[in-house]
Amino acid sequence: WLICIIIFGASGIGLALCERLLSEDTGGLQLCLACRNMCRAQAARSALLTSHPTARVALLQMDTSSISSVLSAAQEVRLRYNRLDYLYLNAGIMPNPQFDVQAFFKGLFSSKIITMFATGEGILTQKDSVTPDGLQEVFATNLFGHFLLVRELEPVLCQAGQTSQLIWTSSSNAHRSAFDLEDIQHQRGSQPYSSSKYASDLLSLALNTHYNKQGLYSSVICPGFVMTNLTYGILPSFPAFLWTLLMPVFWLIRMFTNTFTLMPYNGAEALFWLFKQKPESLDPQAKYHSLTSGLGHTYTQPRKMDIDLETSQALYEKLLQLESEVRKKHKASQHYRERQSQWEH
Ligand SMILES: NC(=O)c1ccc[n+]([C@@H]2O[C@H](COP(=O)([O-])OP(=O)(O)OC[C@H]3O[C@@H](n4cnc5c(N)ncnc54)[C@H](OP(=O)(O)O)[C@@H]3O)[C@@H](O)[C@H]2O)c1
Repeated sequence: WLICIIIFGASGIGLALCERLLSEDTGGLQLCLACRNMCRAQAARSALLTSHPTARVALLQMDTSSISSVLSAAQEVRLRYNRLDYLYLNAGIMPNPQFDVQAFFKGLFSSKIITMFATGEGILTQKDSVTPDGLQEVFATNLFGHFLLVRELEPVLCQAGQTSQLIWTSSSNAHRSAFDLEDIQHQRGSQPYSSSKYASDLLSLALNTHYNKQGLYSSVICPGFVMTNLTYGILPSFPAFLWTLLMPVFWLIRMFTNTFTLMPYNGAEALFWLFKQKPESLDPQAKYHSLTSGLGHTYTQPRKMDIDLETSQALYEKLLQLESEVRKKHKASQHYRERQSQWEH
């Protein structure tokens, strides 16, 4: 059996990946869907089992923005499985996105027009919040929860004599300019999404540096621009039929930029492609892009990331330091809760 955990909800690119993996499965795959909302997870599982009745699909409750949820999910995984072959780190949020109309029209008449459409650079800002653990929500959800999970799952991911793969869903919206090593949670800026995705690119490189010797490999992908709940959230007041009316425009844009993958199936291309690769053959400095040509042909292409070893190592050390602080705080609050319940009884 190959054991594969995918973090997602009940839709989007994660669900499309499950469909694709099960479509090519010849009976050797065990999927585990890690989701924060179990009702949606059940719905996703039922949908997958309808099209693949003999598939092995388990569920796991996990909210990547919550330290205690990640720790208990990791404990559950260690109990259920003695090794993991694939871990897809796919959960992502872009809360309260604001579309900068001024920047859009400026970009429309500049040489950056294609980049703007392909990456959303400069036209998207978000309003972040703070989690009950005291972390910035976008950072916690998109990056830190995943990092903590990887650290917790070391015993099942790093097994002698075999390789395992971490696969991050990053974005072409990951820009160095949005990231600051002195503010890794992006408390001071207005592009927490871009910062968290750039941080995942850096972290993937650092994980390769530290874990390849133990058989654990990390890669990042970009799904392209895909119509999912995340993208619909960019213009929440836009009725669904307007998005449908816009589709021909998007198909036209695809003639100029193959990053307009549009359908979750196409967006999952690089995630699916990586599943079939030998991890030792992958380039740790490349981002694997899902691309779709103007004629609808879908393929994967590696592109060098704008990252360097020094910054990646510096981020890794900061994350380790934060991890140790967070664990201490978590232990203290657990101890406090236990004492309180003893008094109550
Ligand atoms: N769509 C695009 O154009 C695009 C482009 C570049 C990168 N991406 C990345 O692709 C990934 C998948 O996004 P998508 O487009 O498929 O959108 P989506 O359908 O909204 O998927 C995001 C998934 O993350 C899950 N999630 C969010 N917060 C979570 C948390 N705290 N704990 C556990 N799961 C959580 C969501 O679960 P719920 O169902 O419970 O909300 C949802 O299923 C994300 O990392 C996103 O940043 C998307």
